[in-house]
Amino acid sequence: MKSIALSLCALGASAKVITDDSIFYGQSPPVYPSPNITGTGDWAESYTKAQALVAQLTLEEKSNLTFGASTTDNGCAGWIQAIPRLGFPGLCLVDAGNGVRTTDLVNGYAAGLSVGASWNRELTTQRGHYMAGEFRAKGANVALGPGEYPQSDTRLYIYLHFTIVVGPLGRIARGGRNWEGFSHDPYLSGLLAADTIKGHHQRGIITSLKHFILNEQETNRNPFANTTPQVEAVSSNVDDKTMHELYLWPFQDALKAGSANIMCSYQRINNSYGCANSKTLNGLLKTELGFQGFVVTDWRAQHSGVASALAGLDMTMPDSGYWGKNLTTAIQNGTIPESRLDDMATRILAAWYLLGQDEGFPKPGVGMPYAITEPHTRVDARDPAARPILFQGAVEGHVLVKNNRALPLRDPQVISVFGYSAPGYKQSVVGDGTYSAWKLGAQSTNPEQQVASKVYNSTVFIETIAINGTIIMGGGSGATTPGYVSSPFDALNQRAMKDNTDLFWDFVDPAPQVPASDACLVFINAWSSEGYDRPAVYDDYSDNLVLSVAEQCNNTIVVIHNPGVRLVDNFSDHPNITAIVYAHTPGQDSGAATVALLYGDENFSGKLPYTVPKNVSDYGPLLGPDLPEGDYLNYPQSDFSEGIFIDYRGFEARNITPRYEFGYGLSYTTFEYDSLSVGKTKKAEDADIYPSGPIEQGGQIDLWDVLANVEFTIKNTGKITGKEAAQLYIDTPSGARQLRGFEKLSLKPDETDSVKLPLTRRDLSEWDVAAQRWKLVKGSIGVYVGASFKDVRLQGTLDI
Ligand code: NOJ
Repeated sequence: MKSIALSLCALGASAKVITDDSIFYGQSPPVYPSPNITGTGDWAESYTKAQALVAQLTLEEKSNLTFGASTTDNGCAGWIQAIPRLGFPGLCLVDAGNGVRTTDLVNGYAAGLSVGASWNRELTTQRGHYMAGEFRAKGANVALGPGEYPQSDTRLYIYLHFTIVVGPLGRIARGGRNWEGFSHDPYLSGLLAADTIKGHHQRGIITSLKHFILNEQETNRNPFANTTPQVEAVSSNVDDKTMHELYLWPFQDALKAGSANIMCSYQRINNSYGCANSKTLNGLLKTELGFQGFVVTDWRAQHSGVASALAGLDMTMPDSGYWGKNLTTAIQNGTIPESRLDDMATRILAAWYLLGQDEGFPKPGVGMPYAITEPHTRVDARDPAARPILFQGAVEGHVLVKNNRALPLRDPQVISVFGYSAPGYKQSVVGDGTYSAWKLGAQSTNPEQQVASKVYNSTVFIETIAINGTIIMGGGSGATTPGYVSSPFDALNQRAMKDNTDLFWDFVDPAPQVPASDACLVFINAWSSEGYDRPAVYDDYSDNLVLSVAEQCNNTIVVIHNPGVRLVDNFSDHPNITAIVYAHTPGQDSGAATVALLYGDENFSGKLPYTVPKNVSDYGPLLGPDLPEGDYLNYPQSDFSEGIFIDYRGFEARNITPRYEFGYGLSYTTFEYDSLSVGKTKKAEDADIYPSGPIEQGGQIDLWDVLANVEFTIKNTGKITGKEAAQLYIDTPSGARQLRGFEKLSLKPDETDSVKLPLTRRDLSEWDVAAQRWKLVKGSIGVYVGASFKDVRLQGTLDI
């Protein structure tokens, strides 16, 4: 934390200097006033246009842009009303991270964690591109061109997609929303977020970057008013260095990539609510990172009117009651300067202009019915060109972690299939009026659960698995309802039909009888959702099922649908368990992808975007959420005192050998790494220790100066084509070896290709708390290139 020496003389106290940092821990310093949008970088034109439009608005019209209006016209998660007299069509805000939520005729893409497991930047951009196309297409039924909007039609929306989850970052293993994010590593998360944004911008869709910031647990994420005083939301307490080097890092990448919206989070940050925190919004976001777009609340995350406006909030969702008339009154009586409202409106409209949504954006809304049960016009948003991307996304999110020559399957005559996660979901119910609930494997927050109690630290937890069928993602607002779900058993049946395989199955018995088989496949899962944290990271019911099959079948292959870390030590060393696959959250093509991989029609290329430890105890305090306790029963505290040492950094620092390390994953082929060269660029020669460039969105622009390049070659030394996600780690000045580069290559047998990974000024710097800048630390730095965090193939040094 910043070393603070506070002189009390000025306050009339006796001469006493407080130098103890600890007394400031968990406190958020005030940063005022809220910076205005300045139109830097790519924003110049949209800023000018937005200013011109804002100049024509009345006070009430400006205010109307800042809060969610209620409507039964559509099923948008949030709705900003139109200003017909000026041709502003309104604003429709829609979830989710893996496709368009709450509507029909859309696709369900591989969810965040699977994208992380793919380590594939190009595929991630394509996924963003096609997902964004669906948001756009939902309004394309009457393709009115520019100027053809009927002024009276207030159902013309612009679209904003709640796409990019880089918080939570997976600080705690049981985090309920870890599956929505890409990885537990900020570098991997940051680049995949940037790639997703790139894909969205190709289709003119605004991305919402969320949840800003330190939103690492679901437990106590919101205040709880049943007591007096009420229980406030948990406070994520973090020091300035950890904030920058870990949690802010992926947000910075995504802002650099141009995200025009950011969502402030539910919980408190250093004891100040996320949507009224002047340090994070005015300070980090709008000053240090030069954010030009607008800040929207998470739903009902606003707990103050004047305070949140002054702290940098620009839009509240839905209508909290704090703004609207109250905001205009506060402006009229001088409590809030009108320039703050002008800035909110300018930021919102500049985002709209930036993405070109003022120019012939198709008439949307008709594809977003208020209730799916009501008659409505059908708008099929699914582009056939997206099919290979959906499939490939599912394939590359699978990670093979054990393979004793069991895979690929070689013409099996008899296969037995077990486990509740193999068949399609039993229930296909169109849920509540807003269509947010059930459909096939796309489940909401209440799947039928296998209930089994387990005692950890004297607390009884209910373990959750989705026992009624396969899952393709987690639950809550991050879940979508695709047209179909390919379950593993559907796909196996199709394959059996083609090959004339004899299939046996039992998806119900927890200890099934196993026929004599060439291979036994066991499909299990873990359930995870917004709204609560996972009770455990493995469950006895599933582990016993696996063991029971393994006792009877010497070729038992386990496939796990895991929306988060899932421990496997109860069975991973069993000699009859010949292969283990983490299938993650593959989206609608789940089963087809798994079967293509099992049979070798596709090659495994996914790698773990997190670490799998051997024991629950390996996590120490980072297993589950912090709970209200002691003096803080009404003000729960979560101290991020481990600093940057989460996931692989933490295990390494504590000398804990994981079961499967970060970045690990097997293939059906092998790769050889060679010819490492580490070279400085010209910019490195005379680089000052601090950046000096101007701030544009993303921060000081010279933080992205490339100071060194790491080059090497990779050869496919096996017999089949495969993709390798090569990884670069360096000994960072922060005292941890960290990921600072990766690239995925596709290579045919005997083919060699070269990789060149840039190291930027930020990559080689640490956050200097006193200077409040990134500081380039000169010296000799260890450079490690390899197939995972532990599997280092080439090693060198960089003298900077
Ligand atoms: C609450 C969730 O935290 C957020 O991610 C989502 O975008 C909003 N609800 C809107 O559905």
